[in-house]
Amino acid sequence: MKHFLEISALTRVEIENLILKGLAFKQNKKFPAYPHLHVAQLFYENSTRTRVSFELAAKNLFLNVVNLDLSTSSENKGETVADTVQTLAAMDIPYFVIRHQSNTLHLELSNRWTNGVQIINAGAGTYAHPSQALLDALTIFEHKKQFADLKIAILGDLRHSRVASSFQCLCRILGVKELALIAPLVWQPEVVHYGYVTNNIKEGLAHADIIMCLRVQKERLLPEENLDIDTYRKEFALTEAHLQYAKPEVMVMHPGPINRGVEIDSEVADGKNSLILQQVKNGIYARMAIFDTLITSSRG
Ligand code: CP
Repeated sequence: MKHFLEISALTRVEIENLILKGLAFKQNKKFPAYPHLHVAQLFYENSTRTRVSFELAAKNLFLNVVNLDLSTSSENKGETVADTVQTLAAMDIPYFVIRHQSNTLHLELSNRWTNGVQIINAGAGTYAHPSQALLDALTIFEHKKQFADLKIAILGDLRHSRVASSFQCLCRILGVKELALIAPLVWQPEVVHYGYVTNNIKEGLAHADIIMCLRVQKERLLPEENLDIDTYRKEFALTEAHLQYAKPEVMVMHPGPINRGVEIDSEVADGKNSLILQQVKNGIYARMAIFDTLITSSRG
């Protein structure tokens, strides 16, 4: 693995190995140390859990972390992102964790360097969020030990969700039995990687083992995509009443940040079926697996 760009660029074996490595880190608490290596974090969009968990993952592996403050960086003087990366690479920083509003910047940067720079996609526009998909898979596997017999439902704003996009690719590659993509018409995905689309929440959630609830991404909505939130809540929010459509033991997931009282109710987000905080914790171990795999692959 030279870069970590998209789930669709990985094989099933590579994904399974990342999951197993992340779980081994979680269980054994014995970590390799790479004190001579540096990681730069470039976050052009807001983040709490992804940025902090990549930083903690790096520190657990004794990597040195540089958090570039983009509000004071020389990009404000006209430097491009590519020149920023090149400048930091000249200081012997090989690993770049990048979140950007562009759907393609991670690919453009990864195509530019044949060696010396390894790009880790920490969220690309509405296109891909592969490390989130990986931590979600790790969390599911930790509980279910397999994917082939599962019905998973993704519920919410699928049109603007990079999480949903990467998660669909992951479910296809890992052979999830059934994937329901539940959304109102205006938030249904333009591209479907796996699963079937429905606006019928009762049918979509029926017999679900796992529900992945998505945030309403108000900041990405076009005027014609705006929905009345009360109408949305009534039909699509993950309330205790809607939860009854799924199996009693259904596991509730959400990539975060959550909007309480919008796409999910507190009773569900904080309830006995919720894995939301486990997802957050597992983000550290999944991201440790990404770093360790990149480092060991580049060393042959
Ligand atoms: N899930 C996720 O990407 O959260 P943050 O925006 O807080 O990083």
